[in-house]
Amino acid sequence: MRLMSKGLFFFLAFGVAGYAFFVYGVLPLGSLVHPDMKANFLAHSTGIYTHAFASSIALILGLFQFFPRLRQKYTAIHRWLGRTYLAVGVLVGGLSGLYLSQYAFGGPFARLGFAVLAGLWLYTGFRAFLAIRRGRVDEHRQWMVRNYSLTFAAVTLRLYLPASMAAGFEFAIVYPIIAWLCWVPNVVFAEWRYNTAPKT
Ligand code: HEM
Repeated sequence: MRLMSKGLFFFLAFGVAGYAFFVYGVLPLGSLVHPDMKANFLAHSTGIYTHAFASSIALILGLFQFFPRLRQKYTAIHRWLGRTYLAVGVLVGGLSGLYLSQYAFGGPFARLGFAVLAGLWLYTGFRAFLAIRRGRVDEHRQWMVRNYSLTFAAVTLRLYLPASMAAGFEFAIVYPIIAWLCWVPNVVFAEWRYNTAPKT
């Protein structure tokens, strides 16, 4: 069961990051986003490219940090992956996400949802960094679990969006809701899981 859920996490995170690398590395900007968002993307292309690439790095690197063997046996690799995850993924991805949140499609409710997500992403990353600098391993781990649950919003958002389109909901109505739904349950789940799962 644990192996299956880890496999699913890997599949989803690699799928979304791979999709972002392909779409933003190869195709013209705005090719595959909803037509209502395209003009916005073209007007903020530097922010979009920076955000898509940096955040995708976070999505991939973060996965490896949850392997107990990597943490215990290859500590130097864990540290370097962690530094890159925080400095490139969370810091650059979070600041560009915060910048983009003010232009996001869906009005003030969607913009606030993305802005709070970006703020929490940066804050939890900072707390995780601070904890490990002070040698507080358990605290570091807990902040990292919270932080990656927010990183994973990239995946949940891209599951909810097509599902809501398939269910026949209107994009303009559902997008602002998904701007919150993509991360609030993730944090609740991560908190519950952290407090109930055995520590490895
Ligand atoms: C966790 C904090 C994050 C915040 C606050 C955030 C915020 C945003 C915002 C505001 C937009 C523009 C949406 C619009 O104009 O309506 C966006 C787009 C995008 N974000 Fe994020 N994001 C985050 C995490 C991630 C992660 C981890 C990835 C990794 C793949 C990612 C990949 C993308 C991509 C590829 C787009 C372009 C839209 C698309 O092609 O679907 N984001 N993000």
